Amino acid sequence: PRKIFSGIQPTGSLHLGNYLGAVRKWTQLQKSRENVTICIVDMHSITMPHNPPLLRENIFTMAATLLACGVDPAQSTLFVQSAVMEHSELNWILNSLTTMPRLAQLPQFKEKSRMVRDVPLGLFVYPVLQAADIMLYKATHVPVGIDQLQHIQLAQHLARNFNTRYGEMFPVCTPMIEENDGSRILSLREPSKKMSKSDQNPKATINLSDSPDVIKEKIKKAVTDFTSDISYSPKIRPGVSNLVNIHAQVTGMDIATVVEEAKQLDTAKYKERVAEAIIEHLRPIREKINLNLTNRNELIYMLEMGSEKARKAAQQTMCEIKQRLGLGVNA
Ligand code: TYM
Repeated sequence: PRKIFSGIQPTGSLHLGNYLGAVRKWTQLQKSRENVTICIVDMHSITMPHNPPLLRENIFTMAATLLACGVDPAQSTLFVQSAVMEHSELNWILNSLTTMPRLAQLPQFKEKSRMVRDVPLGLFVYPVLQAADIMLYKATHVPVGIDQLQHIQLAQHLARNFNTRYGEMFPVCTPMIEENDGSRILSLREPSKKMSKSDQNPKATINLSDSPDVIKEKIKKAVTDFTSDISYSPKIRPGVSNLVNIHAQVTGMDIATVVEEAKQLDTAKYKERVAEAIIEHLRPIREKINLNLTNRNELIYMLEMGSEKARKAAQQTMCEIKQRLGLGVNA
């Protein structure tokens, strides 16, 4: 059977890119009775300068949001990375199975290391910790957006490398990336870039917690071009095409139908329609987020139960690893 694993940084609320590119896929897989494990990766979130009270708060908001999106802790395992220390332990072991040039060429490292003057070592080994996340649960499939592809390839490389040196033990995981354009939702302000939480401009991203008025405003201000009709050609008209894509994703219509139905509209009118569609889709989720956040003790309990389940699997894997590597003295 397949073992599905994915992770998400606790950045507070999700944005539409996280949701359409990854989270929605997780809940779909869970509905088809797959074995799904979801990790809120707080240890990854300290690789860049961060604010401790905010991080703690964001872990709760992320948990509340994932539940609101349909992650069901009765069926799937939802837990916080730092509660399972085996993640760091395996990270250390994997550090010796890859090389510095290999990590230095990863696009996300290049991009983020430009944003700080002195590059933290944690930022450099970030993708090794990510590989540890995946390997601890011997995951076979990893549903992510397209921006994570290189990191998944590193995890594949580390699994192969481990298997070659110490004997077959890890599946080489398969990235699951949406074929349709859901895997890459673009910034509303600069449609040449992906929608990203680290965007300085809050108008570039739509958060699942945004109120209807905020969503209307952000879509209205979304950068398009000087042609007023609606068409889908991501290369030539990235801004409009991004809206068409989002519209198709939240309504479940295909791109051709969306474009056909928008034939009579100019960009301004069309934006109103897109905003309405997003608002309708997100309304029940937003209500549930707020509800879930009112019960913090329940969230803590739920996450602790998840960590308990994850820990069992992780400890089992670490035991096998130590055996293979000749670490420690236990048989
Ligand atoms: P993170 O927290 O940046 O993003 C979570 C998920 O959302 C996807 N995503 C997008 N998809 C489509 N369009 C976008 N604009 C967009 N922006 C983000 C991401 O691809 C991701 O699937 N390093 C990971 C977290 C991680 C992880 C793991 C993932 C840690 N360990 C193990 C998989 C397996 C990250 O920072 O994702």
